[in-house]
Amino acid sequence: MTTQGPKTHELFAKAKRYIPHGVNSNFRYWGDDETLVIERGQGAYIWDMDGKRYIDYRLAFGPIILGHAEPRVTQRVQQAIEGGTLFAWTTPLEIGVAERICRMTGVDKVRLTNTGSEATFHALRIARAYTGREKFIKFEGQYHGMIDYFMFGTASADEENLGPRDDPRSRPMSLGIPEGIGDYVLNLPFNDFEILEETMAKHGEEIAAVFVEPILGNAAGILPKPGFLEKIRQLCDQYGAVLVFDEVKTGFRIANGGAQEYFGIQADLVTYAKSLGNGFPIAAIGGKEEVMMTIQPGKMAHGGTYSGNVVGVAAADATLEILENEPVIETINARGTALMEGIDEILTEQGIPHVVTGVPSMLSILLGIEEEPHEFRDYIKGDDELYEEIAVELIARGVQPDSDGREPWFLCAALSEEDVAYTLDAFNEAVKAAKR
Ligand SMILES: Cc1ncc(COP(=O)(O)O)c(C=O)c1O
Repeated sequence: MTTQGPKTHELFAKAKRYIPHGVNSNFRYWGDDETLVIERGQGAYIWDMDGKRYIDYRLAFGPIILGHAEPRVTQRVQQAIEGGTLFAWTTPLEIGVAERICRMTGVDKVRLTNTGSEATFHALRIARAYTGREKFIKFEGQYHGMIDYFMFGTASADEENLGPRDDPRSRPMSLGIPEGIGDYVLNLPFNDFEILEETMAKHGEEIAAVFVEPILGNAAGILPKPGFLEKIRQLCDQYGAVLVFDEVKTGFRIANGGAQEYFGIQADLVTYAKSLGNGFPIAAIGGKEEVMMTIQPGKMAHGGTYSGNVVGVAAADATLEILENEPVIETINARGTALMEGIDEILTEQGIPHVVTGVPSMLSILLGIEEEPHEFRDYIKGDDELYEEIAVELIARGVQPDSDGREPWFLCAALSEEDVAYTLDAFNEAVKAAKR
């Protein structure tokens, strides 16, 4: 089934002439007849080139926490850039945003950067410099950006890429990544206390960092088992490794203080991006004083021409101000809870085995399984095809989740109760159509 109208189709054909596959990120390519070209967004909606409106649950893979084109963010950026955008000196806006991030998340110090990948890459370098060690642990199904070091056993992996469950060695997820880099990466199943303990007992003295997405934001929002994040914290303390929370998706979304606040655990380093700028390019690495001060001019490098640029920082300034002063997350959670309950009810009525996972601000639906998933390999057991069919039916009805079930449904503050009701009606129809 095509999701492109005629104008969208024509423009996408042009896009392919000049841009490989017509997209500026592989994740956006859904097929020659399915990939959309978007004209504009406003609040909870986006419109394609044929004027078709969608309730947007992709939200650009998560950043749009307030809504598209939130006027107060746009105005703050417009005003700020009247005075220039980049000076290679510190600006008052950067100081204000760093202060807000520290206040909201509990980190001691922050360095700003532009993308989640830059933030995770620098967090890894800081952790290595701080510990004098080179290896690190990550978990299967976790994505930490496009940096070579992290492109092992991500959510794009299948069982073949992952290799045996008890062998932390996995294959690179892309051509062009040196196999040898895999020597630095130990890829473990999430939520497996035993394998984590054994790995730390064996390699603990060589481990610079344990990187973790506290909720699997790239693998259906799988949640940590009670005590698992605490176990990672305890083992990092025991073996002198740096605990890095990758909060690129959870930060400023599941709580103002992100997963650290939500789960009541303080990491040593934290990476933020996405919701920090409501769709403008800004990211941050935050952390404990002692660890962050590993950054030393002339000794441990962190930099970037566009780090702290006025555009992204002004957007973050306005976004964080709104998050601090208005019940944004509470509103989103109320809508998300209604959606989770409604979806669960519809799937139960239609007799489809399922689990609704994640949290209300980033929720996921797994089909074909009935037990709560605890790790990425549980996700792989689900019925991807049925999920995709339902997603395609939803998109035809003007409701747009990602067609890939690994990607959670993201909610923004602009989503109304009416939008939720519309979505549930469409979901009911979409499930019936997919079953047919
Ligand atoms: C958890 C996580 N970390 C890092 C990244 C990379 O962020 P970016 O795409 O801004 O480089 C992503 C992107 O989706 C992510 O989900």
